[in-house]
Amino acid sequence: MHIWIGGILSDTDTTGRTRATHVFLLLMLTQLFVMAAEANTQDFSALMILMQEWGIRPPSWVGSDPCAEGWEGIDCSNSRVTSIMLASRGLTGQLPSAIQLLSELEILNLSFNKGLTGPLPTSLGNLTKLVYLVLAGCSFSGAIPGTIGSLEQLFYLDLNNNRLSDQIPPSIGSLSNLNYLDLTGNKLNGYIPVSSGTTPGLDMLHNAEHFHLGGNLLSGKVPPELFTSKMVLKHLILDNNNLTGRIPSTIGNVQTLLTVRLDRNSLSGHVPSSLNNLSNMAELHLSNNKLTGPMPNLTGMDLLYYVDMSNNTFDVSDVPDWFSTLQSLTTLMMENTGLQGRVPQALFSFSNLQTVVLRNNHLNGLLDIGTIYSDQLQLIDLENNLILNLTQSGGSNYTLILLGNPICDKTNMEKKYCIVSRSDSSYSMPPSNCAPVACSSGEVLSPNCKCAHPFKATLVVLFVSFSNLGNFSYYTALQASLMQSFHSYNLPVDSVSVSYPTWSSSYYLQLMLEVFPSGEDRFNETGASALASVLSNQTLPRPDYFGPYIVEFYYGKSGGSNKALVIGAAVGGSALLILVALVGVYAFQHKRKAHEPWSRSIPLVRWPFITQKKQTWISNISGSVPQLKGARLFSFEELMKYTNCFSEANDIGSGGYGKVYLGILPAGQMVAIKRAKRESMQGGIEFKAEVELLSRVHHKNLVSLVGFCLEQDEQMLVYEYAPNGNLRDSLSGKSGVWLDWKRRLKVALGAARGLAYLHEHANPSIIHRDIKPNNILLDKDLNAKVADFGLSKSMVDSGTHHVTTQVKGTMGYLDPEYYMTQQLTEKSDVYSFGVVMLELITARRPIERGNYIVRVVQMAMDKTKDLYNLQKILDPAIGLGRELKGLENFVDLAMLCLDDLQAKRPTMGEVVKEIENIIQLAALSTSDISASTSGNSEDVNKDLQRGVFNLQR
Ligand SMILES: *[C@@H]1O[C@H](CO)[C@@H](O)[C@H](O)[C@H]1NC(C)=O
Ligand SMILES: *[C@@H]1O[C@H](CO)[C@@H](O)[C@H](O)[C@H]1NC(C)=O
Ligand SMILES: *[C@@H]1O[C@H](CO)[C@@H](O)[C@H](O)[C@H]1NC(C)=O
Ligand SMILES: *[C@@H]1O[C@H](CO)[C@@H](O)[C@H](O)[C@H]1NC(C)=O
Ligand SMILES: *[C@@H]1O[C@H](CO)[C@@H](O)[C@H](O)[C@H]1NC(C)=O
Repeated sequence: MHIWIGGILSDTDTTGRTRATHVFLLLMLTQLFVMAAEANTQDFSALMILMQEWGIRPPSWVGSDPCAEGWEGIDCSNSRVTSIMLASRGLTGQLPSAIQLLSELEILNLSFNKGLTGPLPTSLGNLTKLVYLVLAGCSFSGAIPGTIGSLEQLFYLDLNNNRLSDQIPPSIGSLSNLNYLDLTGNKLNGYIPVSSGTTPGLDMLHNAEHFHLGGNLLSGKVPPELFTSKMVLKHLILDNNNLTGRIPSTIGNVQTLLTVRLDRNSLSGHVPSSLNNLSNMAELHLSNNKLTGPMPNLTGMDLLYYVDMSNNTFDVSDVPDWFSTLQSLTTLMMENTGLQGRVPQALFSFSNLQTVVLRNNHLNGLLDIGTIYSDQLQLIDLENNLILNLTQSGGSNYTLILLGNPICDKTNMEKKYCIVSRSDSSYSMPPSNCAPVACSSGEVLSPNCKCAHPFKATLVVLFVSFSNLGNFSYYTALQASLMQSFHSYNLPVDSVSVSYPTWSSSYYLQLMLEVFPSGEDRFNETGASALASVLSNQTLPRPDYFGPYIVEFYYGKSGGSNKALVIGAAVGGSALLILVALVGVYAFQHKRKAHEPWSRSIPLVRWPFITQKKQTWISNISGSVPQLKGARLFSFEELMKYTNCFSEANDIGSGGYGKVYLGILPAGQMVAIKRAKRESMQGGIEFKAEVELLSRVHHKNLVSLVGFCLEQDEQMLVYEYAPNGNLRDSLSGKSGVWLDWKRRLKVALGAARGLAYLHEHANPSIIHRDIKPNNILLDKDLNAKVADFGLSKSMVDSGTHHVTTQVKGTMGYLDPEYYMTQQLTEKSDVYSFGVVMLELITARRPIERGNYIVRVVQMAMDKTKDLYNLQKILDPAIGLGRELKGLENFVDLAMLCLDDLQAKRPTMGEVVKEIENIIQLAALSTSDISASTSGNSEDVNKDLQRGVFNLQR
């Protein structure tokens, strides 16, 4: 479709959206022309669908331009929505497939909305611009749609801690730009997909640094094909699955690996010697598997900090060399691994050593601890070994456990190391330096010594390089980094505190996080949501140092009562899943307020012949066949949903009959819903008659009826929605839609064609009775659409050409002959249209300060002068100073329409013809605006005007 706007050809694509480039051209053409709203129609409609589904509308989402300033969680570029960040916003419901309408979306972060359920729509795959997809800690279930493989730009995919099941779709392997893949803590099962022939697989992810797949139900082998030397993988996290078979030797190809967690699976066989090639390895977790064969040689892993190979069935073997050579070790966990022989003294000389757990082995002989160089050493646990003797030098701050060794026989059982005093692994942070202050209830003293309600969360860190919980430098660095992250997003954060570190059973580090607001005494929902978004997005500068983390948090609501909100994030592990599940209970308490009114039972259906199904109404009951063409019956509940419970935000107008609401149908169509006030409701018969009448009218210049709702105490008409508002608002400048002379001609032509259709082509014909600029709507291409048939009368009674009826209409537009004689004909509409024509050129209201526009124009008019001497009263915005070709003819035509005598006025068909002539005169091509329906007066079928189809309101 093509339309002329401002002399530049603008075409619209199949979705009806004017392309941004054209908008740009138009903006260059005239600064007056504001079209932002038009470019955003699709995005706006998509956001309305989402918000209706989720039962919220953030208070800042006002107006219809999502790219206007200040829409919470929305970011735009070139008037298109590119980012949605609504983490922890209490969203409930599903992710509608209409999300695909947001075709420019680059960031979608809906994390920590435990109320988000149901499957991920396949249409996610149409969001081809997506770079960040972050849906952590929600309740999405079902399979991950294979279409996700279409997201070519995707860099960050985080679906951790949902209820996703089925297999990992192989198509994820097509995401060649993917860096971060986190599917932790779901119910994914089946094999880890690798490519074969035409099928993609994870081995193709040559740009991925993170595979976080822990806490699922993955089974089968870790495929050898998964690892290639082309990979840049840093974190391979597969713990807490049901993987079997050997660790493939190909893992040694991925030289970039820093952390490998394969613990808590059912892996068996020998550990491949190639593992020793991974010289960058910092953390290696192979515990709780069924690994056999010789003790792996880790001598090559010079930088290893943390190693845990506990609970495997290795061959009984001597303590390996690397116990003496891996100088960086902080943590050595080798419980129940078949070790025998003496523990080398060199191990205890490592300067970073924190924890040595060698329980349940066959270690024997003398335990020579020698000189300790690490001030972090916390625990040496050799319970249940064969240690005979001990050499310990100097005072020790660490705990030594030798219970169950021969050394703890009768003679030594009083010794400290023979008494199990394995302390609860908790740690208290040093006290703050604040003067003692009593904060009021619920408030907490911040590190900066201010009382406030903090945003609270639990961080569950997937792995760290240390095991000593008193690692103060880590916590300080973490606080500083979080602070930096929040500030880089301009969040009003005063300070951050992490405290109460503990270990989970899968050796995840759990920390309490408190974020203190600056300025305010607490974060509002928007602020808390922004914090959650930042937290969900692993923005810490050194993930290798801090480790990826899980989040779970609570925050106080403004009411004072602390409401728990769940936020499961990052990783899995059964303990975590339980944790998340427990917190999930709170999430259920987070009720869907928006739904409460829906639950009231609404008596359905007054007419016996209306099906309760949401179907096109085809009825043939009792001989009376309602002639509804395509008009659909809506239930009250449906319309309630589509209008967000008839919310104020959706209120787009009102009149004597009631209010008009903007609604969005599930398919994305925007509709205007006229809801009658109780006083202005009609009887069922009359309403039915009106619906029938309206449903017969189909013309591109008439607002068409989409459907209706008739239930007890409710009568609603559902019309198509015109995004550019009404003509009154554009003439007054209110809507920001600017109409130059040529556009005004086009609007006049459209409205005239719509009216001509009503008069001359509708069967029976229809008199509008209330033509005025408020009832002429502008669609997205600024085509006029005549609206509001609320007062219309159709003429069915043969023989008469008029209806005698009580005078209705709007002052200023009333046909004087109708007013005096109460004889209504189509010519009454022609008169009103004449007034509209004068408004089109003057932008004045028909009666302003007591002056009637028709008189004003008549008085000022001098036909001997240029522009009939009307310059002073013309609307300056029409483009004064430019040629207004045809304006005189337009005024002449208006004056003909405004003749006191109906008989002297032209028919609408004639008006259409004349405006077409004027448009040609104005050198505006009509090719693109030629009507689908002829407006020729020759076509007028006056036989249609056959009297009254009386519909009294
Ligand atoms: C979405 O993608 C599917 C195939 O991936 C395609 O068939 C469909 O037309 C797309 N929808 C839109 C609206 O682009
Ligand atoms: C793990 O795998 C074993 C053998 O393949 C199977 O018997 C068991 O049911 C699996 N466990 C789960 C939780 O899927
Ligand atoms: C362990 O690997 C290193 C190479 O990293 C090698 O020099 C050494 O001989 C190996 N030790 C054993 C016992 O195989
Ligand atoms: C080893 O297994 C035992 C018994 O299942 C368990 O209690 C212990 O925590 C495991 N050790 C490690 C380091 O995972
Ligand atoms: C243990 O060490 C002490 C001296 O350090 C020595 O007298 C004793 O014989 C040793 N016991 C064994 C069983 O080696």
